[in-house]
Amino acid sequence: MSSFSAPKGTYDLIPPDSAAFLAVREALSAPLRRAGYGYVETPGFEHVELFSRGVGESTDIVTKEMYTLTTKGGDRLALRPEGTASVLRAALQANLHRAGGLPVKLWYSGTYYRYERPQAGRYRHFSQVGAEAIGVEDPAVDAELIILAADAYRSLGLGGVRLLLNSLGDRACRPGYRAVLQDFLRGLDLDEETRARIEINPLRVLDDKRPEVQRQLAGAPMMRDHMCEACKEYHERVRELVDAAGVAFTDDPRLVRGLDYYTRTTFEFVHDGLGAQSAVGGGGRYDGLSEMIGGPPLPSVGWALGVDRTVLALRAEGVDLDLPAATDVFAVPLGEEAGRRVFALVTELRRAGVAADLAYGGRSVKAAMRLANRSGARYALVAGERDLAAGVAQLKDLESGEQEAVALDAVVTELTRRLG
Ligand code: HAM
Repeated sequence: MSSFSAPKGTYDLIPPDSAAFLAVREALSAPLRRAGYGYVETPGFEHVELFSRGVGESTDIVTKEMYTLTTKGGDRLALRPEGTASVLRAALQANLHRAGGLPVKLWYSGTYYRYERPQAGRYRHFSQVGAEAIGVEDPAVDAELIILAADAYRSLGLGGVRLLLNSLGDRACRPGYRAVLQDFLRGLDLDEETRARIEINPLRVLDDKRPEVQRQLAGAPMMRDHMCEACKEYHERVRELVDAAGVAFTDDPRLVRGLDYYTRTTFEFVHDGLGAQSAVGGGGRYDGLSEMIGGPPLPSVGWALGVDRTVLALRAEGVDLDLPAATDVFAVPLGEEAGRRVFALVTELRRAGVAADLAYGGRSVKAAMRLANRSGARYALVAGERDLAAGVAQLKDLESGEQEAVALDAVVTELTRRLG
């Protein structure tokens, strides 16, 4: 043990669990890659203002949770708390919206940082797979993204993911609703911090989880009763398309997200096996964000799915992923000369695409075979001085226990054939 441990709110991904994590990342992004989304990678830090303007001055993410720093050159930077503002910034900077047809469809995968109070499923360093479709206002794009996320969860064998769907209205109807909601909220018995929130971001108050607040919110006005015709129609179309694709959802008129850039469609994927941190993914439409960060009008929609929480959801459901074996062949050389020959064979196997490993450090047969069994390999390739003299190696099927001598120059072909 070293005298250091990972900082609070973080954890190390180590084998064998790390393999499931990689597989989840892969599965969450696979549907995107089949739907025309191109991979984008942005820096781990950005100018603070990108997030304060983009995510919102009044959000917890910006006021309490950002890791900020001043560089020696005087730049104020923040470790990215989320991906949307960065991806949109990158697309604008590269003029992707002018390069070809819209929408610009991008996906990403990376680690994000929020100084939150750590608890099960809530970390200060976490991973997301995300997608953004930039520059088009069309319910089909919203529906496409929702369906792709649902398909990703399903491909992992998760049965307990529920989709909550809402619309937050737009520039035309939200201000009116905001005023009505503020009037209602001002009449409630709330603490000072919450009262301040009413003036800056009243919709966030609806998301307050405290029972004493929720009780008072029972008769709160809802966005859906104040939505303009255009927003109503748009939302209805999204609902129809999602429904037609066989993706079940629950209308949740109280769904408010923790980021300020949302307009119209908002959604969250939740899993009931995760305790308080039940959101495994979320997203929505953000038609005004581009202008907020100095770009042209580019109505857009996207989501981010939490990799850490998806792994926890799999664990909660007891789903074992069908992971490919890390090692197909484990080689056991007996003696120095065998060590050289077997090392060369293993190199050849790897070059032929076979996952192969070997026992190092001149171990006894017993110790080396124990390693072979523990490696999960299907075959052990054993060779001693006598085998080499006969020009063969022993190929042992670790499942059936059957063993067979194979000519050294046929080992690679024989193993690639057997492993298909
Ligand atoms: P978000 O809801 O803040 O949205 O995060 C998306 C997902 O990331 C959450 O549902 C959760 O699974 C995971 N997540 C968030 N914070 C933590 C944490 N502290 N620990 C573990 N997992 C966490 C966004 O980030 C938006 N950028 C999504 C988006 C994309 N909207 C439009 N485009």
